[in-house]
Amino acid sequence: MNTKNNKVKREFLFTQNDFLFIKELVYNVSGIHLSEVKQDMVYSRLAKRLRALNFKSFKEYCQYLESNFDKEVGNTINSITTNLTHFFREVHHFDTIKNTIVPELVRTQPRGKRIRIWSAGCSTGEEPYSTAMSLVDSIPNISQWDVEILATDLDTNVVEHCKAGVYEKRRIEPIDERNVKRWFKPIEGKRERVIIDDELKKYITFKHLNLMDKWSFAGPFDIIFCRNVVIYFDKPTQQKLFARYHEMLAPGGYLFLGHSEQLGAYQKYFDVLGKTTFRKK
Ligand SMILES: C[S@@+](CC[C@H](N)C(=O)[O-])C[C@H]1O[C@@H](n2cnc3c(N)ncnc32)[C@H](O)[C@@H]1O
Repeated sequence: MNTKNNKVKREFLFTQNDFLFIKELVYNVSGIHLSEVKQDMVYSRLAKRLRALNFKSFKEYCQYLESNFDKEVGNTINSITTNLTHFFREVHHFDTIKNTIVPELVRTQPRGKRIRIWSAGCSTGEEPYSTAMSLVDSIPNISQWDVEILATDLDTNVVEHCKAGVYEKRRIEPIDERNVKRWFKPIEGKRERVIIDDELKKYITFKHLNLMDKWSFAGPFDIIFCRNVVIYFDKPTQQKLFARYHEMLAPGGYLFLGHSEQLGAYQKYFDVLGKTTFRKK
């Protein structure tokens, strides 16, 4: 409904101060930078939460959030994150794994038959599961290898989704038929959904992790995926994160970014190997 001054009448009062409060809190907790143009997005993402808590305005929600910070902040963050992803998204990275990285690791075995990959900001799991399928397809005698994919995300809801490994059938369309038959099982009573086989899940460890926090695991990783994540951060936050990834990568390790992301000043520490594919010098 339009009011006289042509603004859409909203269910909840949402002032500039409310937006600034949420913007600062989200940035401090997650590094996610919400520019002014994200006001409508913040409103629509959090409106559901206000309804659930029976609030009449964002002011009430902000006050509640302030005094129940530990209890509520996870819900705020889960509402704000953008989790768009799909299987074999930006497929050239999976081709690079199969055609370049795995053959080289198999040939040189720099740390024995061991491969470590980190999917940082893995969303609902399509990225790490696509990675696992690519490894199984390309490592000969994979059972003799020590393979681990660490898959982490800030949003606790998506981490649970990853662990369950349940997907709507339409989401597995980008996967070739052989891999669909091999790794996706029907679910009794749920014809529109399929579940990932435990044999594929076993390669992946899923964890809730805020990239802004201390990382409680040691590298080195052969590959780090951080795709379509830093796009939500400002430049100083991106540069700090790239420095930490550089430290976590094995010499000659690979960093994959999303299609619109750049290393900026940090590029000098990497060789550029084609589209958003970087190799530690
Ligand atoms: C658009 S998805 C990208 C998923 C996948 N990497 C891809 O490219 O398809 C971005 C993900 O980054 C996560 N994210 C955002 N800020 C984060 C942070 N501070 N720590 C960890 N994950 C974060 C979000 O929760 C979201 O699931």
